Amino acid sequence: MTENKLLYVHPAPVRVWHWINAAGIVLLVITGVQIRFIEMFDFFSLEEAINLHNYIGFLVIADYALWFAFYMGTGKIKIYFPNPKTFIQDCINQIKYYGGGIFKGDPNPHHMTPTNKFNALQKKAYLGLMFLFLPAQMLTGLFLWRVKKFQVYIDMFGGVKIIDTVHVLLFFFFAAFLIVHSYLATLGHTPLGHFKAMFTGYEEEH
Ligand code: HEM
Repeated sequence: MTENKLLYVHPAPVRVWHWINAAGIVLLVITGVQIRFIEMFDFFSLEEAINLHNYIGFLVIADYALWFAFYMGTGKIKIYFPNPKTFIQDCINQIKYYGGGIFKGDPNPHHMTPTNKFNALQKKAYLGLMFLFLPAQMLTGLFLWRVKKFQVYIDMFGGVKIIDTVHVLLFFFFAAFLIVHSYLATLGHTPLGHFKAMFTGYEEEH
């Protein structure tokens, strides 16, 4: 039997950030459902749900600062940016693979390395997630936490109804994201391969 080479792709700060963030977002979705649909669910009282939602929200913001500092401080943030010259072709290859090749046992067109660990679709998705969707959710959450305190900024964005609508729409996005992202994470060489890597840091090279 040949041993597969191990690639160190997820440094410790990324793994710590990721699992705190994952647990935080799951809990924010649960407490968010409780706050929004108080008449339908009874996991917590409204007050408990709001308090928990606020504490976890700040934990996720602090955790994001860890992700940001690590990737910016080391310059590794480059791995999130697609190569503009090959981006369209890389996306087409990856879509063909997920749409058909994967079911026939074709090799993945993307070869992971520590400096190029994401395929083109992951880069696009993770870039939008980490620089747009997550910051927008954190900022709108912060504004809704103390509406009076942030009134000036809230008004700059069109008022509290707009801020609340964006926060709730993004809540639906994150609830759906958790399902799609967890499913896609099973499409490694083995169903648990990518999960193990997010704990140990090492992916098997095939
Ligand atoms: C149940 C929750 C989650 C599970 C099981 C999970 C699983 C995974 C796994 C296995 C990976 C490594 C494979 C890959 O790179 O795609 C990964 C990476 C990643 N996940 Fe998640 N995830 C969860 C929640 C989240 C959430 C809530 C976010 C963001 C809001 C997120 C953002 C990311 C990002 C950006 C990466 C790439 C990280 C990097 O290497 O820099 N994940 N996730």
